[in-house]
Amino acid sequence: MLTQDDIKQKLGIFAADFIKQDMFIGLGTGSTVYYLLRELGKRKKDGLHFTAVCTSVQTQNILKEEDIAFVTLDDVEKLQLAIDGADEVDINGNLIKGGGGALLQEKIVESNADELIIIVDEKKNVETLGAFPLPVEVIRFGWKQVQQKIENRYNIKVALRTKDGKPFITDHQHFILDCYFNSIPNPAQLNTDLHLLPGVVETGLFTGMATQIVTGYSNGNIAVRDL
Ligand code: A5P
Repeated sequence: MLTQDDIKQKLGIFAADFIKQDMFIGLGTGSTVYYLLRELGKRKKDGLHFTAVCTSVQTQNILKEEDIAFVTLDDVEKLQLAIDGADEVDINGNLIKGGGGALLQEKIVESNADELIIIVDEKKNVETLGAFPLPVEVIRFGWKQVQQKIENRYNIKVALRTKDGKPFITDHQHFILDCYFNSIPNPAQLNTDLHLLPGVVETGLFTGMATQIVTGYSNGNIAVRDL
């Protein structure tokens, strides 16, 4: 039986095979993608060349350690592929992302990629999204009003994300509200509705974006689901 970390490592190494010579790629964020980035460091030393756009400062920092150059999204015409983790994946391939707080740049980068491959361990596959609290990135000004509006409209708990006793601040200097929906039967509609609230910058609902879900299992198997 593999540990969760072993599964993540296996997935990271497996996903590196999707990256071919001279590709333009978007690189996600998180503890699963971490292993992909380390593997790409090795492959770069063996001669693999690609142009990378990062989804977070965290990912940029790992690439720097691996001596892998990166550019910004404005420097490329389009990305052929993006690879990222997710916090939940439903049966239709809709995602909750943003557990690590990088949802805004992830969504911008990944919506500009021809393909989006999601790498997750088996525990993240669910029938319906929502057990994982939905991250919603908001402008700092007036965040409490947005929190109250979401709480009242959906009758749910909404918590300001904190780190070391202070509000968590995203790479783009915003706050995150974690929304305890429990069940999100229509993620596309909820994404649209939340976007209509002034102050909301982005939601962690990634609907209709993933093109492949790669799932790692504790018995060592890896399954690829095309969407
Ligand atoms: C970053 O904000 C997130 O969207 C991550 O991509 C997602 O939370 C998956 O991260 P892990 O691979 O660390 O679980």
